[in-house]
Amino acid sequence: MARDVLRGLCLPAKAIPPKYFYDERGSLLFERITALPEYYLTRTEVGILRANRTALAEAVGDGGCLIEYGSGASVKVRLLLDACRPAAYVPVDISREHLMQAARTIHDDYELPVYPTCADYSAPFTLPEPVQELRRVAFFPGSSIGNFDPAEADAFLRGVAEVVGSGGAFAIGVDTKKDPAVLHRAYNDSAGVTADFNRNVLSHINATVGADFDPTAFTHEAIYNEAAGRIEMYLIATRAHTVTVAGTPIPFTKGERLHTENSYKYDPDEFVAKAERAGFDCVHLWQDPEGHFMVLALRAR
Ligand code: AVJ
Repeated sequence: MARDVLRGLCLPAKAIPPKYFYDERGSLLFERITALPEYYLTRTEVGILRANRTALAEAVGDGGCLIEYGSGASVKVRLLLDACRPAAYVPVDISREHLMQAARTIHDDYELPVYPTCADYSAPFTLPEPVQELRRVAFFPGSSIGNFDPAEADAFLRGVAEVVGSGGAFAIGVDTKKDPAVLHRAYNDSAGVTADFNRNVLSHINATVGADFDPTAFTHEAIYNEAAGRIEMYLIATRAHTVTVAGTPIPFTKGERLHTENSYKYDPDEFVAKAERAGFDCVHLWQDPEGHFMVLALRAR
């Protein structure tokens, strides 16, 4: 993390990878975001999952190993587990305590073997030994794929195709391109939770890397870059000052932007073409009536 963060802070356009949002507090703030009236993503995706749970469960099948990328509080996977019977559940998340707690409640509620795997899913990770022989099914809800650049997303999708293997299933939730005003509201909520979530990355760096960021010296900004099809989040320095990060002085000018996240949005056709290029066939593509979100059931060729 120290190396990653310093590398980003030494770029001419300063940036921090969005995976560092998710310390304990960041994971909790993100859960609060998912309940905000403006943040339509979670609510809409859960509605799509609910409406299509039978067909989705069929695509997932029974007896396999269900691998969830970025499982967080493991809320959405319950919709799957209510409708099908995998032999094991492997939640993969970067936030350890959060992961362990969610794993325990899923294990207790579903009497299912659960193998929590604390890993950064953007890099290859090893599946726990007891599930290695099982058929594999992957689940990646929440439009977290939006954090990858388009080329990184292609590589990630190819990696999932390899993990699940020929005939393996993959269910993924993806946010769509839409009215910029709707997108803007979702990332600039009136209660300021997204702003706190954004600034929390600085507290995480202070505690983990050793730094003296003053989070109150930065304001939150989220804009929709329509040409690139992505939300961009920044922290903006309100005054000129120097921060020390792992012993290295990092100067900020007044108004300087620190890029903290991209959240790419895709049109349905665009995403299906992407999945096909990565080695999947599209079995189902479901949307809400307004087309604000999509869930795809894919099968690896
Ligand atoms: C978890 C990456 C899907 O991009 O909407 C929410 C993170 N950032 N509000 C998203 C996030 C600001 C979220 N993802």
